[in-house]
Amino acid sequence: MSTILEIKNLAKTYKSGDRHLTVLEGINFTLNAGDTCSIVGPSGSGKTTLLGLCAGLDRASTGSVILNGIKLDNLSEDERAQVRNQYVGFVFQNFQLIPTLTALENVMVPLELRGERNVQKQAMELLGRVGLAERHDHYPTQLSGGEQQRVSLARAFSNRPTILFADEPTGNLDEETGEHVEQLLFDLNREAGTTLVLVTHDLELAEKTQRIIRIKGGHVVSDTGAPEIIATRDAEQ
Ligand SMILES: Nc1ncnc2c1ncn2[C@@H]1O[C@H](COP(=O)(O)OP(=O)(O)OP(=O)(O)O)[C@@H](O)[C@H]1O
Ligand SMILES: [Mg+2]
Repeated sequence: MSTILEIKNLAKTYKSGDRHLTVLEGINFTLNAGDTCSIVGPSGSGKTTLLGLCAGLDRASTGSVILNGIKLDNLSEDERAQVRNQYVGFVFQNFQLIPTLTALENVMVPLELRGERNVQKQAMELLGRVGLAERHDHYPTQLSGGEQQRVSLARAFSNRPTILFADEPTGNLDEETGEHVEQLLFDLNREAGTTLVLVTHDLELAEKTQRIIRIKGGHVVSDTGAPEIIATRDAEQ
């Protein structure tokens, strides 16, 4: 099995004025290609920060992130953007759609960046998969929170990511739409082998992933389903 993500002794400290706030410290884990993993923990424990570091959106203060064999630590902003565009899908907790673009245009952006053909047709298909084909010409402000979340998912799927990070992907959705989105995520994992890393407060969703990493106060407090833990457990039996 090939390693898709390797996190080594990761820490993130924010500076505000002359104060330092350590948000994450001593984080270590490895994911294999095709894994499904949830990151859970209380509000403010560092989940979104961790996801952003894993995806190369932000840089760690110390430690290392190796994504698909590429060490992100010393890459420039542009180089990290290239890695993201090639391998990573990201669903933001606050969606981060471009307000001046319609739903369709938002989904088209990653496809255009990759220089793909039939961009509009592909983007329409993706919007259809999240049940929003009819709202394609609406701007983010004309969409509900749940609808924006689904556009954000369609955009994250659009570059057929090797690894998809989703921050509370069902957090703003009603039960039925949430289940549909869950289905889409796990279909993507099964059909395309996309590695899934989800941040969620929904323990039912977390339990559907192979692995649950629990963080508290910026530290990993438990990591169930990690291959090394299962190996140790098996060896003990
Ligand atoms: N840019 C920043 N500057 C300073 N502090 C930050 C910054 N970003 C995040 N933090 C702090 O880091 C901590 C972790 O934030 P983070 O957003 O990762 O939490 P979270 O686990 O995702 O919480 P939630 O479940 O509420 O989304 C918080 O205390 C937050 O205030
Ligand atoms: Mg968060």
